[in-house]
Parts: sequence; C-alpha cells; structure tokens
Amino acid sequence: MRRAIFPGSFDPPTNGHLDIIKRSLPLFDEIIVAVLNNPDKHPFFTVEERCRMLREILPSVSNGDCEVSVDSFSGLTADFARRSGASAIVRGIRAVSDYEYELRMALMNRKLEPEIETVFLMADEEYSYVSSTLMKQVLMLGGRVAGLIPELVEARMREKLETEK
Ligand code: PNS
Repeated sequence: MRRAIFPGSFDPPTNGHLDIIKRSLPLFDEIIVAVLNNPDKHPFFTVEERCRMLREILPSVSNGDCEVSVDSFSGLTADFARRSGASAIVRGIRAVSDYEYELRMALMNRKLEPEIETVFLMADEEYSYVSSTLMKQVLMLGGRVAGLIPELVEARMREKLETEK
C-alpha cells in the first residue's frame, strides 16, 4: 500500500492544487489531502470549510484506482505523515522560486522522519503563477479568476465576501 499525504493550507484550493493531486493519482494507492489548521493565521476559509470544499471538488479529478481523502491536522506535517502511515509527502513545484523553500522543508521533514520521502511534482505551466494568496487578492479586488480556481471555490469565495460586506 503506497500512501501519501498532500499537505497545505488550501486557503483556497486552486486548480494548481487539483493538478498536483491528479498527477499524484497514478503514483499512489491512497492520497490524504491534509489541510493545516494553523491557529496563528487569519484564514479566509475555516479549516472545516476548506475540507468540505476539497471533498466536493475531488471527485472531478479522481480516477477510481487511487483513494483520495481529506483530513485536517495541527502541528508538524512529518508527525501527521507518520501517524497516517504515509511513506511520502507530495508537494507541488510551480517555478524555480518555490524550490529553495521546498527543499529546506523536505530536508527538515526527512530529518524528522527519515523513512518518509518528499515527492515533488511539477504543476502544469498553465498554473505556474497561481497561488491561493494571489487568487484571494485578485478576487477581492474585482478581478477574474475563472479557470484558475474551481467554480465551486469561486462561488464560495464570492458568497463569503458578500456576507462580510
Ligand atoms: O500550502 P502551503 O501554505 O505552502 O503549505 C505549507 C505547509 C502546510 C506544508 C507547511 O507550512 C507545513 O508543513 N506546516 C506544518 C508545520 C511544519 O511541519 N513545519 C515544519 C516544516 S519543515
């Protein structure tokens, strides 16, 4: 059983995230999309909202062979990976600029859990500039994000912005 976790903030999930999940499906039997519950941050979406959205959009990328689930975690990613029985941590790389931070994180995680490998997957170049932070900024300032985040996520973001007015 090859189980991996795909950890992140997913605030909000983007098409870049979905692209990485899609690319990881043939490599593993099971993938746990792991949403970090970071109490220091003031997120746009609560952890529960992010998990719910991910569960709703994942069927659009699932292939049936690899089981994909969603969970949230607090604390260290390496601890969560071990507790989950994962042998790999999947991370997406969009551009060279991501690499330095990702490398340090991968090496630290390997120091903490030597048996768990980080697997870097390259996102489609179409999403090389897509980040959750940019998506929030553009949408909040009235720009278009169609094709960059799932329609359901865009709708939830607009709902939230509307209720916060
Ligand atoms: O989507 P993000 O924000 O790039 O994800 C970053 C994340 C959640 C993977 C990273 O911040 C993380 O692993 N945080 C948990 C705390 C931890 O394990 N820190 C040490 C990493 S070496």
